[in-house]
Amino acid sequence: MTLSSKMGDSGDPPKEIVVCLDREDLGRQAAEAFVKAADEAVSLRRRFSVSLAGGSTPRTLYRKLAGRPFAERIPWRAVHLFWGDERAVPPDHPESNYRMADETLISKVPIPPENVHRIPGEWSDADAAAEAYEEALRSFFQPPTGKWPSFDLVLLGIGPDGHTASLFPGSPALEEKARWVVAPYVEKLNARRFTLTLPVFNHARQVHFLAAGKEKAPIIKEVVSKDALSQEIPARLIRPRGGKRLFFLDREAAGLAGLMDSKENLP
Ligand code: 6PG
Repeated sequence: MTLSSKMGDSGDPPKEIVVCLDREDLGRQAAEAFVKAADEAVSLRRRFSVSLAGGSTPRTLYRKLAGRPFAERIPWRAVHLFWGDERAVPPDHPESNYRMADETLISKVPIPPENVHRIPGEWSDADAAAEAYEEALRSFFQPPTGKWPSFDLVLLGIGPDGHTASLFPGSPALEEKARWVVAPYVEKLNARRFTLTLPVFNHARQVHFLAAGKEKAPIIKEVVSKDALSQEIPARLIRPRGGKRLFFLDREAAGLAGLMDSKENLP
């Protein structure tokens, strides 16, 4: 079931909400949207730039993309994978977002290795790693001076506290207006993280949020049912102006937002 909200008062992109039966259905529907975005990007720009999400929810999507019928519908040679965030760990670490994507997707599809642009989370100097990743992004996108990169597709999860990528509630990273990549210390995790910044996410052509499970229902209600900007809910700050914003939710995650019965709940 797909619901669309009207354009936000401030001209924010409308929210399109896809309520899926379960995680499998969420993976299938998000994979269909991924293929559609890839077709559009490659036909217009001969390449498809994607910022991958970390965490566990995207696993189902990545597995679907690696198998039939989706894998053969994707022009892998034109796909370029980046990460929206990464942990400060080596690429073979169990907590690595790169490792999760490699295990579920990259190792199973014919994407050229040079098209896989991981964040060097293993570097001892996290700030240098963030700068190096920003340089890699600049070299790929080569935007006019002072302009932001524009990913064809950004995939994001949402934490129960409203964080997305590694933009956590109240983080100074939410104020970043110049850098494309930062490496904030995340107090609640007692760890450094790497994350793309809000202006990068908000210049994307499409943002697809993926959320599943009952534990996400309260935050999904907060994110999709209200529009007030709040640094306490970073996921609500993702507003790709001129871009599309889709939410792929299973019924449990959508359960409190009243999305199952009417469209009135969407501002
Ligand atoms: C990460 C993610 C993070 C994640 C949310 C939701 O590196 O952990 O970028 O933002 O998307 O925490 O995670 P789940 O999908 O596991 O619920």
